[in-house]
Amino acid sequence: MTKETVLITGASSGIGWELAKVFAAGNSNLILVARNTTAMEKLAEELRQQFSVQVEILGCDLSQATSPQWIFDRLQGRGVDVLVNNAGFGLHGGFADLPLARQLEMIQVNIAALVALTGLFLPGMIQRRRGGILNVGSVAGFMPGPNMAVYFATKAFVLSYSEALHEELRGTGVTVTDLCPGPTETNFSMVARAHHVRQLQVARKMSAREVAVVGLRDFRSARCLSIPGWSNVFFSQLPRFNPRAWIRKAVLRVNRLK
Ligand SMILES: NC(=O)c1ccc[n+]([C@@H]2O[C@H](COP(=O)([O-])OP(=O)(O)OC[C@H]3O[C@@H](n4cnc5c(N)ncnc54)[C@H](OP(=O)(O)O)[C@@H]3O)[C@@H](O)[C@H]2O)c1
Repeated sequence: MTKETVLITGASSGIGWELAKVFAAGNSNLILVARNTTAMEKLAEELRQQFSVQVEILGCDLSQATSPQWIFDRLQGRGVDVLVNNAGFGLHGGFADLPLARQLEMIQVNIAALVALTGLFLPGMIQRRRGGILNVGSVAGFMPGPNMAVYFATKAFVLSYSEALHEELRGTGVTVTDLCPGPTETNFSMVARAHHVRQLQVARKMSAREVAVVGLRDFRSARCLSIPGWSNVFFSQLPRFNPRAWIRKAVLRVNRLK
């Protein structure tokens, strides 16, 4: 049987880096996408040697609206069996205080690029009647996030969109999973400028490796939602059993500015 091809965005660090490792360990060929090609070259070399898989690298800025089509064209119709929409970032701070351009960039990377890549690669999967999409959302998607308003809202979009596609695609042979991590040890906090925030440590940070292992397991089981760690399952369910006003205030306490 030919090896499956997995395209992973945001594979230059963190959860995407670890997802590349676990897919390679399962004998998948990889296409890695991010801006930092030096980091991806290093990872690619390691994976080629360790697992004898093919690893291709595409250096690309997903905040550019033309990037998804550029990626699709570069692959010249080659089938992608699994699309992992992992690239993303957050920003801590009050909405009015954060640069608007950077917040719009976040919407482009976290939402628009994810939808565009899905729109480009999904028809081929449906035609071949196999494959799947693994979107990296967040526990943040289950609630509103004062002092990270746009980030939480982007992840709410990913949750709603992934759940809807999961149902639409029932019976097609193609699956969609939303991986919803909670706090994870990656570069995320640094990029989000979390030093502006007196974040309450409400749960143990998981390692990116732990998150990737759970994500792959749930994707292979065709689960719609994948929430790694019991504390994150608990937090994702809080909005179901508490008034929305209470949830908003609780998240504000967690994301308090210094
Ligand atoms: N860490 C957490 O606590 C946490 C919790 C829940 C969900 N998540 C989600 O997990 C996903 C991965 O984040 P992470 O925690 O692994 O953080 P990370 O270590 O900062 O990794 C983010 C990845 O996204 C890529 N990326 C960011 N902007 C990009 C752009 N404009 N174009 C192309 N690639 C871009 C980065 O690559 P380059 O910089 O090389 O472009 C990097 O590979 C994100 O969607 C994040 O929202 C993280």
